[in-house]
Amino acid sequence: QFNFSDFTQMKAIVATAVKMKSPVILGTSEGESKFFGLDEAVALRDVLCKKTGLPIFLNLDHGKSFEYLKQAIDAGYDAVHFDGSKLPLEENIKITKKVRRYADWRGVLTEGEVGMVGFETKEEYLTNPEEAKKYSKETKSDLLAISIGNFHGSESFKQQPNLNFDVLKNIKEKVGNIPLVLHGGSGTDSQDIKRAIELGAVKININTELRLAFASGLKESLQGSGEITPYKFLPQAQAKVEKVVEEKINLFGSVNKA
Ligand code: 13P
Repeated sequence: QFNFSDFTQMKAIVATAVKMKSPVILGTSEGESKFFGLDEAVALRDVLCKKTGLPIFLNLDHGKSFEYLKQAIDAGYDAVHFDGSKLPLEENIKITKKVRRYADWRGVLTEGEVGMVGFETKEEYLTNPEEAKKYSKETKSDLLAISIGNFHGSESFKQQPNLNFDVLKNIKEKVGNIPLVLHGGSGTDSQDIKRAIELGAVKININTELRLAFASGLKESLQGSGEITPYKFLPQAQAKVEKVVEEKINLFGSVNKA
C-alpha cells in the first residue's frame, strides 16, 4: 500500500505500477483523505483504473471511528482499516464487528489491528498472539495489522525498526490464514521485509519514504528557480516518488502480477 494526499503522488504510484505490471493498493489516512476528499479519491481511482486496466485498490488507512469508515465505504473505497489499537481489546472487537458488518454488506474488505504501531516501538506495543487470535476469531476481519517492532515514520527519524520475527511466527501460528499487514514499511531493512513476507505479511504500507521523496523533489525544483508553473515544477517531485515506488514493487515481488 502506497499512501498519497495529492494527485501528483497518485499519478506517480499508478504510472510506476503500470510500467511494472503490478497490482497496487492506494491508501489515504483520515487526514490525507480529508485533504484530498473521499469522493475525489474514488473518482480518480476509477478514472485511473479505466484508463490503465490495472487492478488499483483504494484503502482508508487508520480510520479511528465507525462513522468515518462508513463515509469511506459509502464513497466507494474497496477496503477500510479500523485502527482500534489504542482501545481495550473488547472495545476494539466490538467496533470492528460493526465496521465489518457494514463493510461486508457493501463488498468492502476490513483490516483490523491488534498491538500498537505508533511513532516509536516499545515492548508493550507488540501484538499479543493470544489477543490476535481472539480478535480474528471474533471479528473475522479480512486482514490483520500487527505490531512486531515496526513503527511509522522511522525513515524520517533515521532509526531502523528492529522486527521481532519470533512474535510474527507466534502470531501466524495462532491466527492461521488471516492475511497479515505490516505498517510502517518506510526505512525497514529490505531483508527484513522479505523475511516478513515469507512469514505471512501480505500487505506492506509505505508512506514516509514517499513524502520525503515528494518534498525533496519539490524543494529542488522550486529553490532559487523562480519557477511558478506547476506542470514544470511538479514532474521532479513525481519522478522522485516513482523511484521509491519502483524499488518497493521490486522488493515486494509484485512485478508482472497484474
Ligand atoms: P511509514 O510512514 O513508516 O511508511 O508507514 C506507513 C503506514 O504504515 C501507513 O499506514
